Amino acid sequence: PGGVQSFQSVLGLLVPRLSFASLSVPDIPHIAGYFGTKTRYEEVKPHLLRDPLSADPSVLRPPPAEHCSPVHLTAVIRHGSRYPTLKNIRRIRKLSELVRTEASRASGGSESWLQEIRNRWEAWYTEDMDGQLVMKGRDDLRQLASRLASVFPSLLSEENVRKRRVRFLTSSKHRCVSSVEAFQEGLQRESLGLTSDLCVWADAEPEYSHEVDDELMRFFDRCRGYVDGVENNRTALLEVEKFKHGEEMEGVRRRMADRLGLPHHRLTPGLLSFPNSVPKQRSQTAFPNISLWRLAGRRFRTSLIVPYAANLLFVLYDCQRGPRLQLLVNESPVRFPGLEAEDAPLYRDVRATYRHLLDGCDFHRECEGRAVGRAPNTEL
Ligand SMILES: *[C@@H]1O[C@H](CO)[C@@H](O)[C@H](O)[C@H]1NC(C)=O
Ligand SMILES: *[C@@H]1O[C@H](CO)[C@@H](O)[C@H](O)[C@H]1NC(C)=O
Repeated sequence: PGGVQSFQSVLGLLVPRLSFASLSVPDIPHIAGYFGTKTRYEEVKPHLLRDPLSADPSVLRPPPAEHCSPVHLTAVIRHGSRYPTLKNIRRIRKLSELVRTEASRASGGSESWLQEIRNRWEAWYTEDMDGQLVMKGRDDLRQLASRLASVFPSLLSEENVRKRRVRFLTSSKHRCVSSVEAFQEGLQRESLGLTSDLCVWADAEPEYSHEVDDELMRFFDRCRGYVDGVENNRTALLEVEKFKHGEEMEGVRRRMADRLGLPHHRLTPGLLSFPNSVPKQRSQTAFPNISLWRLAGRRFRTSLIVPYAANLLFVLYDCQRGPRLQLLVNESPVRFPGLEAEDAPLYRDVRATYRHLLDGCDFHRECEGRAVGRAPNTEL
């Protein structure tokens, strides 16, 4: 979701450094881990670079003695890799123009990547690309669907897909609609037993069955408390403004201007948020060494938590002692905070632990400042 995401990337700047295991797969571009919420999924799951369809059913961890079987799956999935939005396409164009014209007069600049930006790189983004899903983004979702179908064969079965027992909700954003379509293509391909060969798939006509529900998926747009209280509230974003014009950012801006051979005053703060949005594949050759995050010498948790195609899965199991629930973040088991003793605690314990949220958070009261009669919360 646009508003929330851009807000998240801003917050991402403020969270402390997380130590990363160094990635050992050789062909990961060295700036790939520095893109915050615009990071590719493979940074979180490097083994997918070798086999994008490799699925690991051992992530499902209900107690073996209780003979559990998964009976329900709820997944919240972010859209896949996308083009920069219009605002950033314009910034990229402006910056590359600046480097071509201003930097060529500056001293030094013998480094090959800089030469490449100056002489060969063209701003190939067109304005109609505005935030659209890229081909890689479609693959992100197709492949995720295929892996999930391998981990949950009884739930995402051919029959369940065909009989429309799987329900898809999406926001109206084109990148989200394209993502939910790609996910369904992945499931249908899986259920048809097709290989990952895209040519084979192209012959089969995919059928889509999603509903657009902005009330749910873009709830923040309709939440007056958020829109007035945060998004359009200069006072609430004061700290962000301070950060953007603060000492650290200033230092980053200076170092970036130096790297690019630009006069410092030409690289305005307004141009700076671009590296966050440059798709990885192209940026590897175009901007190999000037990622903002890289220059800041930091990686941020948002790269790990919400890359493109980030996903949150709630798996409900039927077990001898009653229903159990497991949480997976980006296909890895994560224990519920407050219930760390087990991977898949009893459902009733999860409900009890989160009662204050499940029963205590009323959308209308939070957003409109007034209580509205409502049914009991059945979301978990
Ligand atoms: C704007 O943000 C400030 C600081 O968080 C807050 O005190 C104020 O109530 C907000 N204004 C509105 C209209 O919500
Ligand atoms: C980018 O920077 C790193 C570390 O500063 C350096 O090792 C690497 O050679 C640079 N890459 C290019 C293409 O200049």
